[in-house]
Amino acid sequence: MSVLETATSAEPSAAVSEMLDLLGLRYSVGPKHLALPGPNAAQWARAADLALRAPDHGGLRPFRFVVVGDGQRSALSDLFALGAQQRGQGPEEVERARARAFNGPGLAALVARVRDDVPDVPAHEQWVCVGAALMNFMNALHLMGFGAKALSGASVSDRAVHQAFCVPGERLASWIIAGCPKRAAHPKGDVSASPVISHWQAGQL
Ligand SMILES: Cc1cc2nc3c(=O)[nH]c(=O)nc-3n(C[C@H](O)[C@H](O)[C@H](O)COP(=O)(O)O)c2cc1C
Repeated sequence: MSVLETATSAEPSAAVSEMLDLLGLRYSVGPKHLALPGPNAAQWARAADLALRAPDHGGLRPFRFVVVGDGQRSALSDLFALGAQQRGQGPEEVERARARAFNGPGLAALVARVRDDVPDVPAHEQWVCVGAALMNFMNALHLMGFGAKALSGASVSDRAVHQAFCVPGERLASWIIAGCPKRAAHPKGDVSASPVISHWQAGQL
């Protein structure tokens, strides 16, 4: 029986359990631990399709992804270097910033557009949607066998970088690097405890 056929049953099938186990193994993989190839155009697009399944109050779609192809890395590195210069960094740091544009076999930007003119959908709800989109995007990459990591750093706030990716009202929220993991991804800290869920009882916090 396929995962699709069992998707509505109360008891998870073996296939669904396996999928949940696999999702539970998603950890970030940094650029040092990623090898070629990165996702191809169809794989990036599939991940973006999954991002569209994020809960989106009002259907505002407050996010989009921009893939930076190999041929564009050099132009991006010039922008990173310019940004570092404008932040007053010295020559060594400027060169490090330039090199960061080549991080990761695959690179995409997450651009957020959080509006303040929608009375029923406050900004925090739109940011939740952006985060959920990022998570679905990264989970899709993980299920396709890629390692990935969201990285912001100073470059996302650099004026030149911002102007190259965003129209007015948008913000560069994060970079996403992706590639083939050279080793199994692993948790950064203790993940055994589950302190993030409880069952509410009236009168108790
Ligand atoms: C929008 C966003 C930006 C991030 N930027 C950075 C960053 O610049 N540097 C960094 O070390 N981690 C950054 N992180 C955190 C890592 O992506 C990652 O989540 C963290 O290292 C924990 O690893 P895990 O995903 O395996 O739990 C960012 C996370 C998000 C959601």
